[in-house]
Amino acid sequence: MGPGDLNEILRNLPREIDPAVLVGIDTHDDGGVFRISEDLAMVQTVDFFTPIVDDPYDFGAIAAANSLSDIYAMGGTPRTALNILGYPNTVVNTQTVAQIILGGYEKAREAGVAILGGHSVKDPELKFGLAVTGFVSPGEILRNSTARAGDALVLTKPVGTGVLTTALKNERLPEDILATITAAMKQLNKTASEAMKRHGAHACTDVTGYGLLGHLYEMAEGSGLSARIESARVPLFSAALEFARGGSIPGGLKENRAFLKPYIRIAPGVDEALVNLLHDPQTSGGLLIALPPEKTQELVRDLKENSGIEAAIIGEMLPRGETAIKVV
Ligand code: CO
Ligand code: CO
Repeated sequence: MGPGDLNEILRNLPREIDPAVLVGIDTHDDGGVFRISEDLAMVQTVDFFTPIVDDPYDFGAIAAANSLSDIYAMGGTPRTALNILGYPNTVVNTQTVAQIILGGYEKAREAGVAILGGHSVKDPELKFGLAVTGFVSPGEILRNSTARAGDALVLTKPVGTGVLTTALKNERLPEDILATITAAMKQLNKTASEAMKRHGAHACTDVTGYGLLGHLYEMAEGSGLSARIESARVPLFSAALEFARGGSIPGGLKENRAFLKPYIRIAPGVDEALVNLLHDPQTSGGLLIALPPEKTQELVRDLKENSGIEAAIIGEMLPRGETAIKVV
């Protein structure tokens, strides 16, 4: 089962008719939004996965940052969360589970989020994540489907965590690179979210399992537009290209490429390893923001000066053309 099959299952569900549902499943957005009153809506999301780094505390913190990210991508402020834990009681010891939960707890606290409880099940494979609730004013919701033709695209974290964590599993990843990607995956998208709202973003999503191009595809489709990506401008983690060339290709990357193939045109001469990285499934990736081109420089400067975030302008949204995405 791949992303295409899941789309099919969701398409066949009965449609939500409650008028309080402001964002539902139709546009494959990062979270659902439910209106509580004229000026308040609730944003909800859930995410959990198997360990991608060996350190249990870091894994917990990364899983939490990843789960919280969907609220930030919607322009919301996360406030409460519930732990979701699957644990194999034979191999994993109590200390490991305690560290995972502590990592998640401290990351949630950094975000100003209260953990209210959770649920655990025995599971052959260890899994952890959060179900998160946040708030947003209905007028400030940032959907993935409201980009406008002419918008510039800004990305707030480099890509390559899928390829590099695959290298880690094969025990080929140097310590310093592991430290760099761990820090990036633990970084909250909070300040990036606050900054994009200040600078008039039209649309946003976060880059996770479907890779940069997969999430951009949803933005383009949802907005009824096409997108153009300047591949050379996409920020990459150091050594990601080398490991992609060396064959550290996660299974999800191949699935993403197969699914997106009909919707993407790649200009001749774009490095094959780079094309792979544009499809690389990310964990706790950056925000992909569509905003008026005249606002991009100030957003990039704001992120750099106030949060040390190296955001990059990587392309633009265009009127609907032959293909959803053009990579040059
Ligand atoms: Co998301
Ligand atoms: Co999600």
